Amino acid sequence: SAKLIETSKRLAAFQAVQDYLLPTYTHIGIGSGSTVVYVVEAIAALGAEATKGMTFYPTGAQSEELIEAAGLHLQYINKLPPSKQLDVAFDGADEVDAELNLIKGGGACLWQEKIVATAAKQFVCVADFRKLSTRLGTSWTKGIPIEVLPMAAPRVLGELKDLGSINPAVRPGLPSKAGAMVTDNGLWIIDAPFKPLRLAGDGDAKAEEGEWKVDELADRLIKIPGVAEIGLFYGRNGLQVKSGAQKPVAAYF
Ligand code: A5P
Repeated sequence: SAKLIETSKRLAAFQAVQDYLLPTYTHIGIGSGSTVVYVVEAIAALGAEATKGMTFYPTGAQSEELIEAAGLHLQYINKLPPSKQLDVAFDGADEVDAELNLIKGGGACLWQEKIVATAAKQFVCVADFRKLSTRLGTSWTKGIPIEVLPMAAPRVLGELKDLGSINPAVRPGLPSKAGAMVTDNGLWIIDAPFKPLRLAGDGDAKAEEGEWKVDELADRLIKIPGVAEIGLFYGRNGLQVKSGAQKPVAAYF
């Protein structure tokens, strides 16, 4: 039920903050989405004294508002010197596979999320029980979110079909508005469904026609002209998953 899901998100968020936000940390990334709302609630619940030395870096407009509304100190990632890293970044995901590869971008914030995530020493994915699956594309069937330059969208759609995507489409805006959804960066999102993605560690033996490995598909997608960023957090342009450094914090019932 909806209530169970919200309880799970909240539990995961409070657990993640308890386990991964150390009192000595000063620079913290805050992702986007409905789960991150609880992450910020958990951080605010630590109190002003505990958070006074901490600065929080958002991944978009929603995230920025959350930080400000909680009375936390806000700064933008472009103000972080390139020689410095965030201590930790917390974010949600749409789906998490057995190797901790992620689909992100259901809320259209993937580009800034990837910048903040890769600027952090440690990335903590906060996910409720629905999000874990063996392969990406199993529970999240809407497709891989891909941020694109609007004028390139038709050609990107064509290339995605050539790569085996089933009915990729530009994400529509609000029902009350005509046209595509526009991201915080003024770009569009294409949702590209693929057959469930094989893990990088899977052998090729039982691969069926049109089944991509996460890292191989990620490499192809990011190279399509007009693609700004992809919602696969893995590989060349994404997060390299290191066990221990990128644990999903999930609550089970
Ligand atoms: C935003 O673009 C996404 O990457 C979110 O992190 C993801 O969609 C998770 O959102 P929920 O916490 O609302 O499921």
